[in-house]
Amino acid sequence: MRRVVIINFKGGVGKTTTAVNVAHGLALSGFRVLLVDNDPQANSTFIFTKDVKHSLTSLFKNQFALEEAILTVRPNLDLVPASKSLSTINTWLVEQQVPRRAQVLEKILSPAEGYDFIIVDTAPSFSLLNANAITFASEAWVPVAMEYLALANIRELMNTFSTAKSNLGKDLPISYVIPFLYDRRNKKSKQIYNILIDIFGDIVTNPIHIDVRVSEAPYFSKSILEYNPQCRGANDFRRLIRRIIDENSLYRTDDLYSAFFSG
Ligand SMILES: Nc1ncnc2c1ncn2[C@@H]1O[C@H](COP(=O)(O)OP(=O)(O)OP(=O)(O)O)[C@@H](O)[C@H]1O
Ligand SMILES: [Mg+2]
Repeated sequence: MRRVVIINFKGGVGKTTTAVNVAHGLALSGFRVLLVDNDPQANSTFIFTKDVKHSLTSLFKNQFALEEAILTVRPNLDLVPASKSLSTINTWLVEQQVPRRAQVLEKILSPAEGYDFIIVDTAPSFSLLNANAITFASEAWVPVAMEYLALANIRELMNTFSTAKSNLGKDLPISYVIPFLYDRRNKKSKQIYNILIDIFGDIVTNPIHIDVRVSEAPYFSKSILEYNPQCRGANDFRRLIRRIIDENSLYRTDDLYSAFFSG
């Protein structure tokens, strides 16, 4: 099972778009996926359902069991939904003990079994909610918008990962840097793409081009693979999903297999 956090502290860079479309693409390819909406904006949730009974907020408060909150939103795709009230959890977490307060999400999700991927969508902030997502995850996928300031944001993110390493003993590798909102007509996109390759090398994926259909799909409560499977944005996502599947054996931590070697 792969535990993925989709993270970048900058807003509007494609985190939710990646979470929703990659999660759905993997599910369509036959993988069992649990999408966890760990963002009070609840954007991932809104795309797949308008009917939330128990959200992640009540799981943090220990009011319900995980299985009572999980919704099956597509074949092979389950969702732990968020609601606006999740923003209150940051203040609640401040009052909890260290280090436990960064481990609550990990505990909430520990009964989740039988998934190939657990994918956590996050809010654009330094917050205890995000510290929880980092503690839970075993790898990070980082969407980056093709803007010069994006590079400064990435530095900030790397600093957070090294703080997590020293404070939580947690070394979170980045598996993929995903260039977002790529504009072919704009030299800037190519320049920033090249800088990303210089910094990150092979983990930089194919770019996701600007495509208005990608931004329209959420209004129709659809992933891009449902809304317009032939458009450029859908092709970009299929290419990214193909790569993730092709490389799955490199990243998968098969629990039995690792238990065998550590035991
Ligand atoms: N390839 C694309 N082409 C055009 N618009 C896009 C594309 N990808 C995403 N968008 C739009 O850009 C906006 C930001 O994307 P998204 O919501 O995925 O970012 P985010 O990082 O999750 O934002 P936040 O930090 O607020 O959670 C959305 O309106 C989305 O529809
Ligand atoms: Mg988002």
